[in-house]
Amino acid sequence: MTRVLIWDLPVRLFHGFLTLLILAALGISLLVHDSSPWYPYHSVLALIAAPLIVLRIAWGFVGTRHARFWSFLFSPKAVAMYFIDALRWRETRHAGHNPGAAYVVILMMLLPLMSVLSGYQLGQGNKQVKEFHEILAYVLLALIGAHIVGIILHTLRHKELIAVSMLDGKKQADPAQAIPSSRPIAGLLFLLFALWWGAMIYRGYDTKRGVVRLPVVGMDVKVEETGFEDEHEE
Ligand code: HEM
Ligand code: HEM
Repeated sequence: MTRVLIWDLPVRLFHGFLTLLILAALGISLLVHDSSPWYPYHSVLALIAAPLIVLRIAWGFVGTRHARFWSFLFSPKAVAMYFIDALRWRETRHAGHNPGAAYVVILMMLLPLMSVLSGYQLGQGNKQVKEFHEILAYVLLALIGAHIVGIILHTLRHKELIAVSMLDGKKQADPAQAIPSSRPIAGLLFLLFALWWGAMIYRGYDTKRGVVRLPVVGMDVKVEETGFEDEHEE
């Protein structure tokens, strides 16, 4: 089967930023001690990722064919059939996301957003969300694990280096499934926005006050536990 263009540039750039930012945020939050000066950077990185996810969700309505949510909102039956077939080592191939990956992919967009919202609440001193915030991180980690296992299985099963598809946008598929353009202008705008937003968040991080000033809106978001010290930790 020939390799044809499936993923447009905004999707690939989004994937690159999401992977780097969320893996780093997860790594810091789970591996670094919470008294370390590095710890608040997990929140800073997640704040950089948040609007990129919102833009990807919008692209899921107006983007190219395989980027659109309707193209991978499979029925529960289709998901079940996919896994039954996969166990028999004879699942059908899909040009875009397959039914096994589709909901994992959607959750990998929604969970970081939920972490940002609950992280914001934590910074406001709402300790009730602490456990929820932590559980979200572990569920996200498990989903990423499942994502990587899925990619390895696909690579072995179909003898196709699927990971490369998120770099060059191409997958082995029927040429009729190809998208006509990788949407370079939308990709460039996305890239410029991501770099600008990242730089503004980084610049807006006031380490002394433990807050990030959000660009444009001018709101301060607390990214560490300063102010909790006098409350006794459980
Ligand atoms: C470094 C290891 C990773 C590799 C090699 C990789 C590879 C891929 C590939 C090949 C796809 C397309 C799957 C398909 O054809 O259906 C994909 C999609 C996706 N991956 Fe990853 N991934 C990695 C890490 C991550 C991480 C850490 C996250 C989450 C934080 C993530 C989130 C996603 C999302 C949300 C999509 C859907 C993209 C979209 O439709 O916009 N990936 N990944
Ligand atoms: C992908 C996004 C995020 C992940 C995976 C994540 C993960 C975590 C984890 C695992 C903890 C430790 C919880 C505990 O010790 O019980 C934590 C703590 C914390 N997070 Fe996040 N977080 C994310 C985003 C954010 C954001 C955006 C903010 C702020 C706006 C934030 C604010 C905090 C604060 C203030 C704490 C300290 C809570 C404490 O230990 O008392 N987080 N985070």
